[in-house]
Amino acid sequence: MPVLSKRVQSANPSATIKVAEKVQELKKQGKNIISFSIGVPNFLPAEHVYKAAHKAVDGDSGSYLPGRGSEELVAAFIMQMENKGLPYKENEVAAAIGGKHALFNLLMAMLEADDEVLIPTPYWTSYPDMVEMFDGKPIFMHCPASQNYKLKPEQIAAAITPKTKIFMFNNPSNPTGMLYSKDEVKAIGDELEKHDIWIISDDIYDRMVFDGEKFHHLLHTNPNLRDKLVCVQSISKNYGMPGWRVGMFAGPERIVKAMLTISGTSITNINNVSMAAAAAAFGGPQDFSDKAMETLAKKRNQVMAVLANIPGVVCPMPKGAFYAFPDVSSYYGKTHNGVLINDDIDFCTQLLETKELALIPGSAFGEASGARISYACDYDTLSEGLKRFADFFTEMRTQNNLIFDVA
Ligand SMILES: Cc1ncc(COP(=O)(O)O)c(C=O)c1O
Repeated sequence: MPVLSKRVQSANPSATIKVAEKVQELKKQGKNIISFSIGVPNFLPAEHVYKAAHKAVDGDSGSYLPGRGSEELVAAFIMQMENKGLPYKENEVAAAIGGKHALFNLLMAMLEADDEVLIPTPYWTSYPDMVEMFDGKPIFMHCPASQNYKLKPEQIAAAITPKTKIFMFNNPSNPTGMLYSKDEVKAIGDELEKHDIWIISDDIYDRMVFDGEKFHHLLHTNPNLRDKLVCVQSISKNYGMPGWRVGMFAGPERIVKAMLTISGTSITNINNVSMAAAAAAFGGPQDFSDKAMETLAKKRNQVMAVLANIPGVVCPMPKGAFYAFPDVSSYYGKTHNGVLINDDIDFCTQLLETKELALIPGSAFGEASGARISYACDYDTLSEGLKRFADFFTEMRTQNNLIFDVA
């Protein structure tokens, strides 16, 4: 029988997609599952976005389109980047099928076998899998809850070797919702200035920032990094449009040229209708997205109010995205309904089986001390899910006679 490549044989299916499939299967069996597992922001784009999409269908030429993206998409993206204080020219930007595709192609363009890629942990689940697909080696820099899941510059200094090729940075973060302050970004940027490595800045949650905080980019604090840094953007989260599959990236012309060669060899161009909708999202009124952020901030507050009342569970306050990442490890080694909970997998499995609540185990993000809550569901679902979550811990404390010091 013909064999598959080693590359795909060793590849892992996405952990988040695996949990989503399990949830669908249980729902089909009639179970009343609440899912806090999906990375979908749960709001729809505004009317002007749909109008632009309809117009694109009506005026469709049926032709292949520019690989970089349509003129209007490129112009709208450049304008938005400029408004964020990140000026780029047309030859320094291009489109992709979502941020995921941009990241995948960037790694293809940058990596040789055995090159090392520095990744702060917890990380977005696909980073290491993508690196390994191109025979690179992920090097993890562990950022536990005790350091607010945030990377310190000295961790980069300690992890750098002659083989380091790329540093990957995601701010605000999936899975923790952490947002780096200006000083924290600057400290990381100062360290990165010392090293001749690529920087991939995954900024796809940059509009999703709460409490009047500001998003600070590495190029705001350290403009000297511009020649080795690539910004990755997407309409999936900021504009509630994950299924439309449009990502954008901006960086030095030489990397953008290489990326256009890759997409010219693989996809030719992204589709006309999605490009028109993305151009409208980037370039049109932003209030539909702003409103969605206000709602998400309220939901974040609801989650944190419940977590704060669960003794022994620690959760640094998320300031962006729509995730919280409670550290539940003080309950490991104890039982729930007679089942030993030794790690995040046991915890999430038991939570799903007994409370019909789905979370993604933290080990999918390289941090087994906890699990990811995605709270972008409707309020009723959120309230019911949080009740089930809190009940689970109450039961564990009662069944194990657990008492925690409450700070
Ligand atoms: C940190 C991060 N980067 C990239 C992506 C990819 O997003 P998309 O391909 O939908 O643009 C995701 C999706 O969940 C993500 O969380």
